[in-house]
This record gives sequence, C-alpha cells and structure tokens, in this order.
Amino acid sequence: MLRIVVMVSGGGTNLQAIIDGVASGEITNTEIAAVISNNRKAYALERAGKAGIPGIVVSPGEFESRESFHEALLETVDALQVDLIVLAGYLVVIPEKMTRQYENRIINIHPSLIPSFCGKGYYGLKVHEAVLERGVKVTGATVHFVDQGTDTGPILLQKAVNVMNGDSPKSLQERVMEQAEWVILPRAINLIANGKVTLKDGKAYVRS
Ligand code: GRF
Repeated sequence: MLRIVVMVSGGGTNLQAIIDGVASGEITNTEIAAVISNNRKAYALERAGKAGIPGIVVSPGEFESRESFHEALLETVDALQVDLIVLAGYLVVIPEKMTRQYENRIINIHPSLIPSFCGKGYYGLKVHEAVLERGVKVTGATVHFVDQGTDTGPILLQKAVNVMNGDSPKSLQERVMEQAEWVILPRAINLIANGKVTLKDGKAYVRS
C-alpha cells in the first residue's frame, strides 16, 4: 500500500482528483495519510475534511524564522511515515534538506509542458499568461519528480492541451486542469503505487 501525503496551498482541485481517483478505484493500492497546507484558508482543507482525511496546517507566517518553518514542515512529514509526497498546487519552496531526504519520492504537477514555461516565477495563472503572450498553440501539464531545482526533476508524465482562439489565462488554466492535470496526477500516483515507474540516469520510465 502506497502511503502518500498531499501538499496544497489553494483550491485543491488536484487533491480532489486524487481523492476521487482513490474512491473510484482509478488509483489502487494507495492511501492518503494526510493533507498539509501552508494556507489555513485553503479550500483544499475543506475537501480533505469532507473526505475524512486529516488536514494539517504548517504556515510560514506562524514561525519565527524560515528555518523553524522548514524544521516543523519536515518533522510533520516525517511523522506521517509516507512513501510519497505529492505537491498539488503547493506554492512554497520545499527545503533542500527535505528534497534530499525524500529524493525520488516527491512529485509535482506543473501546468505547462516542461521545459517550457517553468522555473522561478512560473506558477498558477502566470504560466498561462506567458503561454498566451508567446502565442504557442499547444500547452499542457507535466508531472515530474522534485529535485533541488525548480521544475527541474525527472519528467514522469505529460499531457498536451490545445490553445484556442480567444483563450484568456483563466479559460486556458481551466482547460489545462480539466484535460491534463486532473488526468495525469492521479495516473502518476497509480503507476507509482503499482510499481510501474523506474528512475535511471535522471530520467523516469513507465512500464506498461
Ligand atoms: C493550478 O494552477 C495547478 O496548475 C497548480 O496549482 C494550481 C492550483 O491547483 N499546480 P489546485 O486547484 O489547488 O489543485
């Protein structure tokens, strides 16, 4: 049984896709131990509560220093004794000590086809604004393993989404979430839970 913690900051629609995937059997061999948010007001915590999943807030603003926040975050995750950390719209930088301790056991969903439109400053609507600004015709989402960089770890799954004439950042974000994020994040968890993913020389491979 793959034991996971999902880390969130906002609406939690990706978390909901995971919850629904476990409930429907689309994701097998997986249990959600808890949801951790940096934001006490995140609607994602409501979603966790409705699903009977413990919600934990570890908010940077409630600590004296960034270091004490990092320590508390790592202690909280360690105490859960999970196999996989899933970043689902989590907007806080993961401390290096945590990415090293959980090497190849943290995945993230990013709303573009990495290596395009990623890295520092590319998150949420800003990604889609940049996509529209550049005029690209195809975008999408990526699930990748998290390393010490920003959106630089091994790519696990990607799904393309067409940019439509007249798209706004919001309409494009919604299509990328519906058609890509909510599909590949549950699929990635299910693949990992069922031993279908291997990492070699910094690349991720899926066995069918
Ligand atoms: C979305 O833009 C997603 O692409 C990014 O975080 C944002 C919020 O997602 N990963 P959620 O509704 O909180 O899952």
